Amino acid sequence: MSTDSNQITRDYMDSLLVEQRLLDAVLPDTTLTLYGTRFSTPVMMAALSHLDSCYPQGMVEMARGAAAAGAVMWAGMGDEAELEAIVATGAKTIKIIKPYADEGLILRKLRHAQDCGAFAVGMDIDHAFGRRGGYDNVLGQPMTAKSQEQLAGYIRATSLPFIVKGVLSVQDAVKCAEAGAQGIVVSHHHGILESAVPPVKILPRIVEAVGARMPVFVDCGIQSGMDVFKAMARGATAVSVGRKIMEFLHTDGAAGVTRAVEELTGELAAAMARTGTASLAAMDPTVIWEN
Ligand SMILES: Cc1cc2nc3c(=O)[nH]c(=O)nc-3n(C[C@H](O)[C@H](O)[C@H](O)COP(=O)(O)O)c2cc1C
Repeated sequence: MSTDSNQITRDYMDSLLVEQRLLDAVLPDTTLTLYGTRFSTPVMMAALSHLDSCYPQGMVEMARGAAAAGAVMWAGMGDEAELEAIVATGAKTIKIIKPYADEGLILRKLRHAQDCGAFAVGMDIDHAFGRRGGYDNVLGQPMTAKSQEQLAGYIRATSLPFIVKGVLSVQDAVKCAEAGAQGIVVSHHHGILESAVPPVKILPRIVEAVGARMPVFVDCGIQSGMDVFKAMARGATAVSVGRKIMEFLHTDGAAGVTRAVEELTGELAAAMARTGTASLAAMDPTVIWEN
């Protein structure tokens, strides 16, 4: 049995089976309304970073593709100029800030994201620890674990919706909700924790605990429209796709990104049509069979 969380997640996704509901089925509506804004699809760009070796100005190119597809853009680690260029593409952008040890830096980045027109902000709390015990250090920047009280402070410091990325337990999800977060991403950050429970496996418990209070997003290993459908049927508000869309960015830039989102959304629509799912709001977990 593998301890590789990416493999465990892939195997789990493939183990989920879907029943068919054709009578009274309709052509589905895949539009998503998030924080008052309407998008064409629940397929979002994952919070990526450092994509210049994938494609020149990769993050900005990704944003161009997202904007053309009417999809939500997320941006991970990166400087202020890059975020400004991403937002200038017109893509609605959620900026994820690392759990820097430097609290002043976090507050400055929160302020900058708000001033430059980001759609929402957040933090990938799962990047606090390194692989050998101590706190992580990303490109010379030390990280630390954050408390619920610190989280509440960041949430108070911005007028934008604040989203916590890297939630993989009901306990953390409830703490985020109590701190006032306006969204969480259920994720293991492409395998940052060994033997991690697949995000889509734990998702229903987390949605049951906090789903009525805020959107619950999911990522890790989403590679097809059927994967998107399985995640949505198990309660996700929307899903983020990272490495799969990077393949399209690498070969075709923004046009490739747009095509990737459209293909994933088309496959999602096909799964919705065959399961009698008229809209994202009508997703029903009972169409999924656990093997
Ligand atoms: C090249 C690369 C850079 C990433 N940078 C960040 C980052 O800066 N911040 C963050 O929260 N997540 C980052 N991630 C994690 C993704 O947001 C996502 O959680 C992860 O890749 C799982 O999604 P996937 O399986 O669809 O790739 C990065 C992932 C990749 C592959």
